[in-house]
Order: sequence, then structure tokens, then C-alpha cells
Amino acid sequence: MTLEGKVAIVTGGNSGIGKAIVIALAEQGAKVVIDFVAHEDATEELEKKVASMRDKAIGVKADVSKVADLQRLIDTAVQRLGRVDIMVNNAGIETRTSILETTEEDYEKVMEVNLKSAFFGTQIAAKQMINQGDGGRIINISSVHEDWPMPNNTAYCVSKGGMRMLTRTAGTELAAHGILVVGVGPGAVETPINKQTMDDPAKLKTLNQDIPLGRMAKPHEIGAVVAFLASDDASYLTATTIIADGGLMQSGPGL
Ligand SMILES: NC(=O)c1ccc[n+]([C@@H]2O[C@H](COP(=O)([O-])OP(=O)(O)OC[C@H]3O[C@@H](n4cnc5c(N)ncnc54)[C@H](O)[C@@H]3O)[C@@H](O)[C@H]2O)c1
Repeated sequence: MTLEGKVAIVTGGNSGIGKAIVIALAEQGAKVVIDFVAHEDATEELEKKVASMRDKAIGVKADVSKVADLQRLIDTAVQRLGRVDIMVNNAGIETRTSILETTEEDYEKVMEVNLKSAFFGTQIAAKQMINQGDGGRIINISSVHEDWPMPNNTAYCVSKGGMRMLTRTAGTELAAHGILVVGVGPGAVETPINKQTMDDPAKLKTLNQDIPLGRMAKPHEIGAVVAFLASDDASYLTATTIIADGGLMQSGPGL
């Protein structure tokens, strides 16, 4: 498996799963554009780490909930690294509010960061890949919650359910251009988004008991799945989601 000569973009790439994806892609030889909105220092540190693996990484500040920023992100990748082969729509947030309490503002923010960003990230990256003429990979970081209800996190589940259909529909539509679109559905991963659970020993114990593998995933275990999906070895996967949850969906009652 090698990604030598490929250029990848990872949205929300300076934290948690995104950071692990950046490292996994760079380890296979890809040049990586690290999109971020916050923590510029963390992005610079990550750029240096990736550059020390002999390949180039650049950080680009872009709010992926805005189509103009997404366009600038992809244009910058092309201007500075020459092309785009792999687009990873990873940025995501959650509000953890009940459907009874979710405000219009909460709803719109979750939809814009999680779903609108992936929709237009797919559209703009696909146009660039079609211009290049030799296909590409679009990888949507979804969740087990694209399928599995999570009470008190309704807007998040709705956004990931939308991402599920984005992956299936765009994958079907873009297959003619050799662009493969695949989702990755992690279960519970040790990242800042789960700080509340990880900081609460009782909650963490219950969660771990619900996971057949007995523990949350490490971010690099999701990065490895993405690196495989970005490679030539994953040439017959499209319009589907790879669930990486340690068995959680088959047994747990929910987070
Ligand atoms: N951690 C888990 O258990 C888990 C499980 C399933 C799915 N996921 C998904 O994985 C993805 C990454 O989450 P994570 O766990 O690494 O959390 P995280 O909070 O560490 O990372 C989220 C990233 O998205 C970025 N982001 C937020 N709003 C943005 C915007 N407007 N523009 C650009 N970037 C923005 C953040 O700055 C951060 O870098 C999310 O889509 C999340 O839904 C996480």
C-alpha cells in the first residue's frame, strides 16, 4: 500500500481523528493539506511532524461550513501541491441536546459543519478530480450514528444520517468518473469530542462494557482505515460505509 505522489486534504485535520488521518496518509507517502479553524499552534506542530516524515504538509485555515472557504481550501491545495487525489471530510461537532431543547442555531451549526461541509467538499473536490481526469477518493468521516439512534444527540444523528445518503448517492453518481466515495463510521474514539465521557470513570466503564472489544478506539485505528480506503488496494469500495466500532453497534444500548 502506498500513497506516493498523491495529494490529500483532511478537514478538521489538527485534532483527534483528523490528526491521526493526516499522520496515517503521510506515513504512506501522501502530501497533506491540513485544514483547521482553531489551534494554529497544533497545526504548525503537526506540519513539522509530517514534514519530518520526508513529505510536505501545509496548514490552511478554512471554516468548512462556508462554501467559499472550502473552495479556497481546494484551490490552495492545487496551487501549492499541484492536484487533489483524496478528500477527507472529517470536521464535525455535536451539541448533545435533546430534540426538545435543540435550538435553531444549534441545529444549523451542526448541519453546516457536519453535512453541508461534506456535501460541498465532495462537490468541489469532485470537480477538481474530474478536471484532472484520473479519478480520486472522497472519504466521509461519519459515525455509527448514521444508522444508530443516540437519544439527546438528535441533530448530530440527523447530520450523520444525511452523510450516509451523501456517500451512497455521490458514490453512485461519481463512479463514472472513477471517483470512489466511502464513509467511515467510527464507534467511540478517544478524542476531545468525547472528553465528557472519558473524564467520568463511571460513564467510561459502562461504555467499555458495551463494546465487545472492551475499550474505545485509539485515533490511529481510524486513521489506518482511512489510509487503506485512500489506497489502490481499496479499488472496489464505493457508495458504502465501513463501520469501525469494536462491535459496539451489535451490542450496546447507546452512548
Ligand atoms: N470521537 C468519536 O468517538 C467519533 C465517533 C464517530 C465519529 N466521529 C467523527 O469524527 C470526526 C472527528 O471528530 P473527533 O472525534 O476527532 O473530534 P475533534 O473535536 O477532536 O475534531 C473535530 C475537528 O473538527 C474541526 N472543526 C469544527 N468545526 C469546524 C469548521 N467549521 N471548519 C473546519 N474544521 C472544523 C475542529 O477544529 C477539530 O479539528 C467528526 O466528524 C466526528 O463526528 C467521532
